Amino acid sequence: MKWVIGNWKSNGAFAQNEALLNALKALAFEKTQVGVCVPFPYLAQARSVLHESKVLWGAQNVSPFGPGAYTGEVHAEMLCDFGCRVTIVGHSERRQYFGETNALIAEKIQRLNAVGITPIWCVGETLEERERGAWQEILRRQIVEVVEIVGAPAVENVLIAYEPVWAIGTGRNARPEDVAEAHAWLRRMLTEAGARPDLPILYGGSVKGGNAAELFAVEGCDGGLIGGASLSATEFAAIVAAAEKE
Ligand code: PGA
Repeated sequence: MKWVIGNWKSNGAFAQNEALLNALKALAFEKTQVGVCVPFPYLAQARSVLHESKVLWGAQNVSPFGPGAYTGEVHAEMLCDFGCRVTIVGHSERRQYFGETNALIAEKIQRLNAVGITPIWCVGETLEERERGAWQEILRRQIVEVVEIVGAPAVENVLIAYEPVWAIGTGRNARPEDVAEAHAWLRRMLTEAGARPDLPILYGGSVKGGNAAELFAVEGCDGGLIGGASLSATEFAAIVAAAEKE
């Protein structure tokens, strides 16, 4: 089974979301888990359109705290209130622009676990890290530093998204051989850290209708986290169709 999850990032407006969500609701799929992670203000809209469909919805971030005096934060129980089943943590844009560390990501995973929401835990190296041959060490640290804090049982129900930063929003997707190699490495790091051997590992970074089939055919690739192409109903439908053929 493949996963295809949209990540709208900081995009959307009420009227255009309505059309996009209705297109998701109308998608036909059997073998794929399809979902969409929307900005916080649109969670209620996602729930109201998608609640009678098989499409999951969720957020793109969560507070590392519970309820209380944390101005501006949205905590995990609130996401539950809105019916979220998945939520992204540790996206590279949050690591880059908001200083998120592996320790903070660990806390967010624990918060989501506590309320039964599946974390979509993003990892990935930058271009500079890849070019100086450090990608394996970076991925190792991104996995190990989190599992050391949360413990292996806490990652039983996560989805991993391998998102090389150099492929995000650049139109330059990783080559199938890069994806195969990185997913195999992540699988090894996860298993050595005590995680279950069949944890789904999704690929993210410039996945589109035109390259999804090739990427999803890669050994060890359990689907995709889709940014830009998730804002287009036709592109997203083509990606789901590619996953259905696997
Ligand atoms: P992209 O983004 O598909 O626009 O490259 C993927 C992501 O950041 O999740």
